[in-house]
Amino acid sequence: MTAPKLALTEGDLSTTAADAVVVGTLQGADGLELAPGADAVNAAFDGALLEVLGTLRASGKADELVKVPTFGKLAAPLVLAVGLGKSPENGVGEEQVRRASGVAARALAGKKRALNTLASLHVAAAAEGTLLGAYTFTEYKSDKGEGPVAKVDLIAAGSKENKAALKAAVAIAEAVAIARDFINTPPNDLYPGSFADRASKLATAAGLDVEVLDEKALKKQGFGGILGVGGGSTRQPRLVRISYKGAKATKKVALVGKGITFDTGGISIKPAAGMDEMTSDMSGAAAIVATMVLAAKLKYPLEIIASIPMAENMPSGDAYRPGDVLTMYGGKTVEVLNTDAEGRLILSDAIVRACEDGPDYLIETATLTGAQVVALGKRTAGVMGSDEFRDRVAAIGTAVGESAWPMPLPEELRADLDSRLADLANVTGHRWGGMLAAGLFLREFVAEGVQWAHIDIAGPAYHTGGAYGYTAKGGTGVPVRTIAAVLADIAANG
Ligand code: BES
Ligand code: MN
Ligand code: ZN
Repeated sequence: MTAPKLALTEGDLSTTAADAVVVGTLQGADGLELAPGADAVNAAFDGALLEVLGTLRASGKADELVKVPTFGKLAAPLVLAVGLGKSPENGVGEEQVRRASGVAARALAGKKRALNTLASLHVAAAAEGTLLGAYTFTEYKSDKGEGPVAKVDLIAAGSKENKAALKAAVAIAEAVAIARDFINTPPNDLYPGSFADRASKLATAAGLDVEVLDEKALKKQGFGGILGVGGGSTRQPRLVRISYKGAKATKKVALVGKGITFDTGGISIKPAAGMDEMTSDMSGAAAIVATMVLAAKLKYPLEIIASIPMAENMPSGDAYRPGDVLTMYGGKTVEVLNTDAEGRLILSDAIVRACEDGPDYLIETATLTGAQVVALGKRTAGVMGSDEFRDRVAAIGTAVGESAWPMPLPEELRADLDSRLADLANVTGHRWGGMLAAGLFLREFVAEGVQWAHIDIAGPAYHTGGAYGYTAKGGTGVPVRTIAAVLADIAANG
């Protein structure tokens, strides 16, 4: 897919040749309102744009799209009026602009050029929304369709700040697309070996250092969790390590992401219904690879080292069993009571390895538990970890439009992970607090003194419903934008 070209444009938009002009509408206290930025279009309609939209029954609610022909009032033949939702007292929010720009971008598919007046509200949000909304994945379609809009002019000043904001937004949207592409690639083509190859090619091209541990190297170094989980598949597991060191690096950050390229559940096999969705069980890994490429591009003044375990969870004669005891990297032993709780096993190996580098912060993300979806739904990630850092990550996630909520690690659940045989069992043996129990399991492997955040994205990583805002069916790229913003925040504030 070729992403739309974006540019900052200040000229008179009524005389600028284009296929469409995008304006925003709002649900005000007294009904429909035009969003700031629509003035020039409204003037071309002799101040009657609101009345025209009212006649067309526009309400301004989020995701609404109303098309108005201009009959020569503007150089562009069409106005796309996109709903921003409720009109907040303290101004239109970034996520409102991002979503509305995404709706517009989807409606503009196949067009050559559009003008987006929402950029006057927030340049970066309009840019991100446009690029994310225009995203399509047609790799496996014979008919590739009409393709996304070729060019979108963001109606905003060409100031130094706006230029920098646009550049960063484009890089971030590109990273989200990298993550989405990985997630949308089916498991017969994306398995540990091919995932490691593709990740390594991307990272090397971005100028990053890459090391790939194959099954032999994993065995030699004692990665019992990754080997145990990955043993059932003919496609053997990998651990990919990607490092970046910015000039004047002040802090060291470790990133870890779950890379289960397909999760059948293993011997504790999952029911057939919905199992196909487990093609997305490597969304955490995809987000981390994409974030590393982004780090190289945005040159954060940080040292960042990613440890990305990749395995396929399959039942077979070589598969690990319920009842097995695994010796994890670093020596802790785990009794496997359910082979479908595999994510935490590959993650703990990677977390112990990541902590050997002595990071100040550890951010780990995974499609870890169905319990996350039960607790918080399909669109809000659960964040656990060190109290302060957990709250910081959750707040930043929500602020960038990736809804996230802090969750506790209740001490009383920890004893339920005690094992008859080993140091730890991989499940509690009951359903209560499943997301939190997984967090408690991971905590056992995080080194003392590391500020740690675990982001469970089981719900938000993969969208199965109809497209909305800038989110299409399939991989969403969550939490790339959260992690990028957390890295920027650490770079700025320590
Ligand atoms: N990959 C799943 C979690 C998941 C569920 C992700 C739904 C996305 C959507 C994970 O490996 C899993 O199977 N977890 C089990 C853990 C249980 C056995 C303790 C679960 O949540 O049921
Ligand atoms: Mn599982
Ligand atoms: Zn899984």
